[in-house]
Amino acid sequence: MEAMQKNGKLGAAEVGRIGYGAMQLAGPHVFGPPEDRDAAVAVLRRAVELGVRHLDTSDYYGPYVVNEIIAEALRPYPDDLVLVTKVGARRDADGGWPEALEADDLRLAVRENLDRLGVDSIDVVNLRMPGLTGPVERSLAEPFGVLAELREQGLIKELGVSNVTAAQLTEARSIAPVVCVQNLFNVVDHSDDALVDETAELGIAYVPFFPLGGFTPIQAEALNRVAARHGATDRQVALAWLLHRSPNILLIPGTSSIAHLESNLAAGDIELTEEDLADLTL
Ligand SMILES: NC(=O)c1ccc[n+]([C@@H]2O[C@H](COP(=O)([O-])OP(=O)(O)OC[C@H]3O[C@@H](n4cnc5c(N)ncnc54)[C@H](OP(=O)(O)O)[C@@H]3O)[C@@H](O)[C@H]2O)c1
Repeated sequence: MEAMQKNGKLGAAEVGRIGYGAMQLAGPHVFGPPEDRDAAVAVLRRAVELGVRHLDTSDYYGPYVVNEIIAEALRPYPDDLVLVTKVGARRDADGGWPEALEADDLRLAVRENLDRLGVDSIDVVNLRMPGLTGPVERSLAEPFGVLAELREQGLIKELGVSNVTAAQLTEARSIAPVVCVQNLFNVVDHSDDALVDETAELGIAYVPFFPLGGFTPIQAEALNRVAARHGATDRQVALAWLLHRSPNILLIPGTSSIAHLESNLAAGDIELTEEDLADLTL
């Protein structure tokens, strides 16, 4: 697949710039099992077959369900597959996402990710900080310190942070190396512009969540206009814009559909022109 020609760096690993985010493989509202488990297994296998080597997940998707499906679909994992999980929240009985940042919460979450994914060491663990509408300034030293200890013990290979401010990234980096930042960013939400540039300068991967708008799909006339020029879809253009935005951006679009997966990977072939980029100043 052409998309994999554009290589990106995720910590020590080389990965295609378009990976896959597994959140959409759980049931509605990321809670409970999917309607069609076999279809979820098939999407994961197709992703790996097409060269995806960056797989983003969490044990709180489902909860547990998505990691179980990943293990069922992909074990034994390809040697070069980078499994990235996140900790810092849990699910309550109503499907809520309360924070789980105490040391015991984090140790248990890492243990449970290891067990369910069926690995001895997790490639990357992101500390996901709370904040529904964006990052909130507060110290992450204690929870990140716990993850740094687990890394020292060999249970985690590399660390990332998610839903963080620039100050929180600086604080985390003073404790242990950070290989990726996973924050909200896309063609219509540029609130993290400065952090995209800062991570590029630092050689840290920037992994936007909701690259297609997540639960509120991005819609814009300009995307349709550019898409028409390339014989592409608006979603492909939204992904191509992110790839163009900065070389340290790695994509993890989420989908429960093989057709959408294939379309998302093909977005790597789109070369945006100056005219396109001017149109996409949204
Ligand atoms: N760190 C965090 O706080 C955080 C938060 C949210 C997400 N994430 C991670 O980021 C990943 C990406 O986010 P996301 O999945 O929530 O949002 P997203 O990638 O922005 O969008 C996913 C939505 O777009 C649809 N879609 C995907 N490809 C499409 C295509 N080619 N054509 C039309 N529709 C398409 C999907 O539906 P279909 O299933 O029908 O394709 C789904 O409804 C997640 O999987 C997760 O791993 C992290």
